[in-house]
Amino acid sequence: MSCFAAMEKMGHEELIFCRMKEAGLKAVIAIHDTTLGPALGGTRMWPYETEEEAIVDALRLSRGMTFKATAAGLNLGGGKAVIIGDPKSDKSEALFRAYGRFIESLKGRFITGEDVGIDVNDVEYMFMETRYVCGLSKAHGGGGDPAPVTAFGVLQGMKACVAERFGKSSLKDLTVAVQGLGSVGFSLAKLLQADGARVVATDLDEERRQHGGSGLGIEIVSPEEIFDVPAEILAPCAMGAVVNDHTLSHLRCKIIAGAANNQLAENRHGLELHRRGILYAPDYVINAGGMINVFVELEGYDRDRALRMSRGIFYNLRKVFQIAKRENIPTNEAADRLVEERIATMRHLKGMYTGPHQNRYRWETRP
Ligand code: NAI
Repeated sequence: MSCFAAMEKMGHEELIFCRMKEAGLKAVIAIHDTTLGPALGGTRMWPYETEEEAIVDALRLSRGMTFKATAAGLNLGGGKAVIIGDPKSDKSEALFRAYGRFIESLKGRFITGEDVGIDVNDVEYMFMETRYVCGLSKAHGGGGDPAPVTAFGVLQGMKACVAERFGKSSLKDLTVAVQGLGSVGFSLAKLLQADGARVVATDLDEERRQHGGSGLGIEIVSPEEIFDVPAEILAPCAMGAVVNDHTLSHLRCKIIAGAANNQLAENRHGLELHRRGILYAPDYVINAGGMINVFVELEGYDRDRALRMSRGIFYNLRKVFQIAKRENIPTNEAADRLVEERIATMRHLKGMYTGPHQNRYRWETRP
């Protein structure tokens, strides 16, 4: 498929190719939809085998960012960039500074930060050339690790699920099976314990399993057993595609609510969950805490504000469940509908003149 055909099919506004031979830079920036605000999305560095693979990744991921921002009620659009190269061997100051200059040339239409293969040091190099980066260290006014905010948001989402499915206002005495005890999963397990839930967890990594077992005193099972745990809630906090043809028959939970991106292997698995009476919290709605954290950083970081805004995930999920019930559709489809409706309404609203522009983002007030 041609680039233009792919953009048209997925609704993209712009696709940008960045090249500086001397710095070894080859990057693709995809801007999906800026109806609500500047396109936000991380930059990924990966040794893509073909250029097509890199372009498809940028297109797919940027669209996902529009959905996440819109469902979270943020005034941000979706974008994503990929740098073609091996993060183990191809990184240099010149590469990230050259890339930073391309970002700067977009004048805030695209704001970026870390993604797979990129770390805070790389972002600091970009920051030498552009203001339009986030996920900076605390020393540069950044918000630090977003994982605790993501975990807090997931907890709010779980509460919405429990209210919907069991008519309960707390997680007390419920069992939650957490897959993945990484940055988000570990924080989430702690929050769940504090809320009185019983936590059963796993991780591929032996050290992390031990840390969870001895550090938190939670029950640990092997990675293969996690889907069979008789728990009210399954919280995928590791990799994507955990709901697939193989795992479906093992699921014993009533709710799936976790941080992992792209939890459904295919959209049809959302319908399968719906048919089986398993309430699914659409991933991009429940895991928006990390993005909310970045949004707050753009306006001047304040962790309390990030946590306060993440409480909104509870209400966002309630809206999704209302649509799902009203239309008798799976929750993943209901979430997509919520997003499409918000973008369409805001497009009309933006047509109304409200006087001279006021500063909103931190760079608009900087010298
Ligand atoms: P992480 O890399 O810190 O933790 C992931 C953990 O999952 C690792 O400990 C890994 O060993 C484990 N794992 C991987 N495959 C597994 C398997 N099959 N079974 C059991 N454990 C497995 O990542 P992090 O930051 O905690 O993120 C978790 C998920 O949430 C990812 O999918 C990420 O994309 C998503 N997410 C994270 C956000 C954040 O703020 N960190 C924000 C939004 C989404």
